[in-house]
Amino acid sequence: MPEGTDEKLLLVLDEGTTSTRAMLFAADGTPVGSCSQPLTQAYPAPGRVEHDPREIWHRTLACAREMVEKAGGAGRIAAIGVTNQRETVVAWDTATGEPLANALVWQDRRTADFCETLRHKGYEDEVQARTGLVLDPYFSGTKMRWLVENEPAVAEAASAGRLALGTVESWLVFKLTGGEFLSDASNASRTMLLPLDGASFDQGLCDLFDVPHRALAQVVDNAGEFGTTLPELLGGRIAITGLAGDQQSATVGQGCLLPGQTKATYGTGAFVLSNKGHAIPKSSHRLLGTVLFQLAGKRTYALEGSVFVAGSLVQWLRDSLGLLGTAAETETLARSIEDSGGVVIVPALSGLGAPHWQPEARGVIAGLSFATGRAQIARAALEAMAHQTDDLARAFAADGAGWTSLKIDGGMSANDWMAQDIANVLDIPVERPDFVETTALGAAMLAGVGAGLYPGLEDAAAAMRGSVRQFMPDMADDVRSSRAAGWRNAVSAA
Ligand code: G3P
Repeated sequence: MPEGTDEKLLLVLDEGTTSTRAMLFAADGTPVGSCSQPLTQAYPAPGRVEHDPREIWHRTLACAREMVEKAGGAGRIAAIGVTNQRETVVAWDTATGEPLANALVWQDRRTADFCETLRHKGYEDEVQARTGLVLDPYFSGTKMRWLVENEPAVAEAASAGRLALGTVESWLVFKLTGGEFLSDASNASRTMLLPLDGASFDQGLCDLFDVPHRALAQVVDNAGEFGTTLPELLGGRIAITGLAGDQQSATVGQGCLLPGQTKATYGTGAFVLSNKGHAIPKSSHRLLGTVLFQLAGKRTYALEGSVFVAGSLVQWLRDSLGLLGTAAETETLARSIEDSGGVVIVPALSGLGAPHWQPEARGVIAGLSFATGRAQIARAALEAMAHQTDDLARAFAADGAGWTSLKIDGGMSANDWMAQDIANVLDIPVERPDFVETTALGAAMLAGVGAGLYPGLEDAAAAMRGSVRQFMPDMADDVRSSRAAGWRNAVSAA
């Protein structure tokens, strides 16, 4: 596999919010195998979202084993790349390798009060200047503090010097290697504990957030030699050579390697990252500065707009409300009508992220009438994706980083109606790769560079990226303005 060649493959472990996957790539970027398992979402109280770290590990391992078997054994795999849902925090015991509590997921809002307290004490500007992030429960730091303060087993391990607090790539690397405790710079930059210009987690920031510094990992590059898998796990030792947060990985997979190149990924949430080169990004419009990648100790940064609800809105319409049989049905329903009949959905189901940052905001379905049916709701749900992206486009433009085109990807971007609507509402060309799983492709590119298959990301992009399709704007100005006005009204109600 591929038949009759000796070519080695790259294995990507893509641990997302709602599913964990493993994918195999040939060195030219051709996907040759894929396995996926759902992840259980625990909602113990409104605003709280948890995962079971054991399940994350066991399902990742099961998918990895399936792909290694498909490849023909560990010897056929050149290297592993790991990419993951960011900000989610796992606490585990370094002596036993066992988790000490459920993982607090990035969507979890339980630390909103503490963020508010820090804001009232006047720390917001300093935190944003140092870390690029705004004081919001989204990020890992306040979640780590919560675990130490509220989970006795975590506090006990901290006192005994056996506590590890890490993001999901740290957890997986620890388990895969049997003890390496690392965090790549892109994931580390989402904790609020890493200064954008600092090589490691900062003691002063840890003190501010009450996080024990010694429970944190070593911060490393995004490509390099990070350890090998324990031989008993996958039938042999395989080198782990690529690590990245999923949104940074998708940015790499989209080939956004030059300043100004911008992508939007529509997965559980929607995340826009624009490459800012080696300059530390500064936003005056509530966008985030983040590490895009670090290679040989040198960082490339991105400006980011994070929207919390994208595909999860469609999932909610399907699974909680039973309005849809499948997510793909939204496209047919949206096409079946001329407009949404005045229905506007603001998907603030877990607060509003960028550029609003209102953790307590909640979702709105506005403009309901007796003429409203499934089609209007489905269309309004898809329209919300374009409007949320447009809010970000305005914030990026106000920060002097406007987009002339946008590269989209992620599972939901396969919806042609939505892709065209984004081009229409933003009034710019939208480009979508034929292979929309750019998160996994980016991790394969990083692993390829880390394993020495390619000298740099530009070479990996030239070799591994495939063809793209363009969507050109095609909407009358008055329709665009009236859609924007309807959206603004509904957002103020959220
Ligand atoms: O910051 C959260 C993000 O990494 C989650 O990504 O792909 O699960 O929507 P996804």
